[in-house]
Amino acid sequence: MSYTRKRPRRSRTSPLVREMLAETRWSTDSLIQPYFVTDKPGAKIEIPGMPGIFRESPDEFLAGLEEDVKLGIRRIMLFGVTEHKSEDAAFAYAGKNPVIEVTKEIRKRYGDDLLVFADVCLCAYTDHGHCGLVIDGQIDNDQSVPVLVRMAVALADAGVQWVAPSDMMDGRVGAIRDALDDAGHVDVGILAYTAKYASNYYGPFREAAESAPQFGDRRSYQMDFRNRREAHLELELDDLEDADWVMVKPALPYLDIIADFRERTSLPVAAYNVSGEYAAAKLLAREGFADEGLLVIENLTAIFRAGAQVILTYHLREILQNGWR
Ligand code: PBG
Ligand code: ZN
Repeated sequence: MSYTRKRPRRSRTSPLVREMLAETRWSTDSLIQPYFVTDKPGAKIEIPGMPGIFRESPDEFLAGLEEDVKLGIRRIMLFGVTEHKSEDAAFAYAGKNPVIEVTKEIRKRYGDDLLVFADVCLCAYTDHGHCGLVIDGQIDNDQSVPVLVRMAVALADAGVQWVAPSDMMDGRVGAIRDALDDAGHVDVGILAYTAKYASNYYGPFREAAESAPQFGDRRSYQMDFRNRREAHLELELDDLEDADWVMVKPALPYLDIIADFRERTSLPVAAYNVSGEYAAAKLLAREGFADEGLLVIENLTAIFRAGAQVILTYHLREILQNGWR
């Protein structure tokens, strides 16, 4: 006589059984490594709170990339960092923009062996650090979109295969698609930051990109973290505007939104495992409260399990270096 005939534990008894039944499997082919490229010559500055992640000059970046490619990194996201900040964010699309400069070199060196995604946003280029232009004290949607469009086209001209608008202005995905097509860049994809929340997990990034807003906050354009249905509206709109992929950001505190996207759209769903999530994992590991490799794999597996097909994560390099799995 046993206590129960129903024993889910039978399916967990041995590694051979567990491996058969694992529902979520993923590979590093679905991960994108972000980089911060500055126009400051010779710079290689580790980001406070993000051990292993640097703000680096084009030369330093290209040297490091060589190593990363040997390691197996094939998909990268580029963010620009500069002191050339102005009211009109003109450096966002200037020939001297460090992202534009390195992209040309990357495409020369690696051709189609590397997939280059580039951030499209104004916060690193405006003197006030907001993601759009400020007109009469307000972040002005319709004055900002043409600048974002110009930036996206300049990046595509330089050779990026994907642009990733992270600004959250209304209508920018459709405007960027029109402009890319008009410029002959029909094969350049748009990875839209569709549901980007006004999050407290972006702290280390703002340090990295020197892009913290000088006044106010980003709540007039990024989403309120109390809202779920609003993410569905953003999804409908980015779908109508012909985004190729839709992204949820941050990732770990927003698994419900990722799961909703997976159900509601046939477009590929991406998630951004952001700087604060990276910093949190690093802190737990550094204090000896978790095994870093196991923690990182658990975090990323949870994001995939929720429904993401692609994850942007600062952990990619160390996953490859250490063979975490
Ligand atoms: C800015 C931007 C941010 C991130 C990506 N693009 C920060 C912000 O909105 O303030 C965050 C990435 C991260 O935290 O890793 N458009
Ligand atoms: Zn921004």
